[in-house]
Amino acid sequence: MCTHTYTLIYEGKSKRVYVKNRDELILEFKDEVTARDGALRSFIRGKGIINARVSAYFFSVLNKKGIDTHFLDYDGARKMAVKKLRMLPLEVIVRNYAYGSQLKRIPLLKPLQELNPPIVEFHYKDDSLHDPLIIVDDIINSGIATHEELNFIIKTSLRINDILREVFSEAKLKLIDFKIEFGRDRDNKLILADEISGDTFRVLDDNGKHLDKEVFRRTGDPKLLIDAYIRLCEKLGIKVDDIDFHG
Ligand SMILES: Nc1ncnc2c1ncn2[C@@H]1O[C@H](COP(=O)(O)OP(=O)(O)OP(=O)(O)O)[C@@H](O)[C@H]1O
Ligand SMILES: [Mg+2]
Repeated sequence: MCTHTYTLIYEGKSKRVYVKNRDELILEFKDEVTARDGALRSFIRGKGIINARVSAYFFSVLNKKGIDTHFLDYDGARKMAVKKLRMLPLEVIVRNYAYGSQLKRIPLLKPLQELNPPIVEFHYKDDSLHDPLIIVDDIINSGIATHEELNFIIKTSLRINDILREVFSEAKLKLIDFKIEFGRDRDNKLILADEISGDTFRVLDDNGKHLDKEVFRRTGDPKLLIDAYIRLCEKLGIKVDDIDFHG
């Protein structure tokens, strides 16, 4: 999966996107980490490989459980081949415990208060607007998705939450919340896309320690983040001993 033969079509904060062929893209996970809308930025050797590997792991689990995902292949390092989709400009957030922007929005909730049933929340994906919360009628009226499609996304997101919670609980980790994205394939079918990694979910170990990007948001320290990501992989049984974190 050598990317120099492919055309780069997009570079975001965490991934580069290349065209592989008419139906497939390559996602290349970068070693950069950013937080607070790009105000905190750092380079962490090995982070791209870890996030690609964690994503490949979760997409494989979800595929086996019958969720349609974009995942096709993983090169063992930082690249993933995926189905090319037309992405919805939405971030779908599933919350099991109150945290982060939800607490800012509604401070009456207590930090880590259990949300039972879990909440599915939509944000309009636009960096210049800071990905604002968007209500269902806005999504429908603006033509982003239909009512039926949103029902499908909510149902699928909750099913994904159940599957992820089970995997994490076997690893003695508590899933606080996560962000996912969906896109449409050629037949307009909605498919789970993007990534599932410590950059996009929050998990706590049994000492209440974060094994996710929150470590970087709070400390700005890339070394502490990579240590947390290595521990995350160890807990999930994902191999990291072949990754060069220093060289
Ligand atoms: N299967 C797919 N088909 C088409 N685009 C995809 C697919 N999976 C993910 N993407 C898109 O590829 C891009 C990945 O880049 P990246 O995540 O770095 O940037 P971003 O989400 O635009 O911005 P941010 O830096 O805030 O994450 C995203 O725009 C994402 O929506
Ligand atoms: Mg992104």
